[in-house]
Amino acid sequence: MINTYKIAPAMTYEVFETKEAAAKKLAAEVAELIRSRAAEGKGVVLGLATGATPLPFYAELIRLHKEEGLSFKNVTTFNLDEYTGLPHDHVESYWYFMHTNLFNHIDIPAENINLPCGTLAPEEIPAHCAAYEQKIKDCGGLDLQILGIGRTGHIGFNEPGSDDTTITRQVHLDDLTKTDAAPAFGGFENVPSTAITMGVATIMGAKKVRLMAWGEKKASIVNKAINGPVTIDVAASYLQNHADAKYFLDTPAAAEL
Ligand code: F6R
Repeated sequence: MINTYKIAPAMTYEVFETKEAAAKKLAAEVAELIRSRAAEGKGVVLGLATGATPLPFYAELIRLHKEEGLSFKNVTTFNLDEYTGLPHDHVESYWYFMHTNLFNHIDIPAENINLPCGTLAPEEIPAHCAAYEQKIKDCGGLDLQILGIGRTGHIGFNEPGSDDTTITRQVHLDDLTKTDAAPAFGGFENVPSTAITMGVATIMGAKKVRLMAWGEKKASIVNKAINGPVTIDVAASYLQNHADAKYFLDTPAAAEL
């Protein structure tokens, strides 16, 4: 779909004074989902994001685990994306990020953790992406997908040009995305040019989608994603068509709404 307007206005947003307050509320929602499923003897499938945005959310999940006994034994996770070319022990790999900032501090079984693999030979990537999609399906689909948003409007690494039929695949990163990542990599030229990412359709397939955005740098793209047309130029705009999508924003990120 290209440049259509919202057809299912189920998308909502909530504005918080601080990102910590927003992250705490979202973590409480996720904790409730995990606990209620555990009480029924069932598991939960979470889609997870990396980047600066989810850090306070992961910090709160770790606190809930350590101080309030929240167990992740019944949780299975699928991360949105991974840079190609980075091994697990590279400090900028998303595998390293997730283990450092969440998995090493909670009781999730290692076999329940799924991330796209960044170190495959090019000819192995299509089968790996298809298997990733299939594994999400085999686990019953994503119950709740956590998202951030890039300044290109990307969710996962679905850059402008990614429509709502896209699934897990290898993609090229937009120059703006590489510019934003450059400081962490010690320069633009060191940022990988490609990544493996879930597609827009993969994300839209989640039963619930929860997107966090903080700071004034995100204000313009947040407004485009929420109030602009549903367009292939802004992947997050497709969330306007999701039955249960919610933005968690701090005041600066909501400034242009
Ligand atoms: C990360 C991801 C990206 C980020 C986005 C925002 O797994 O898929 O879409 O959520 O680039 O990054 P930060 O949070 O660093 O501003």
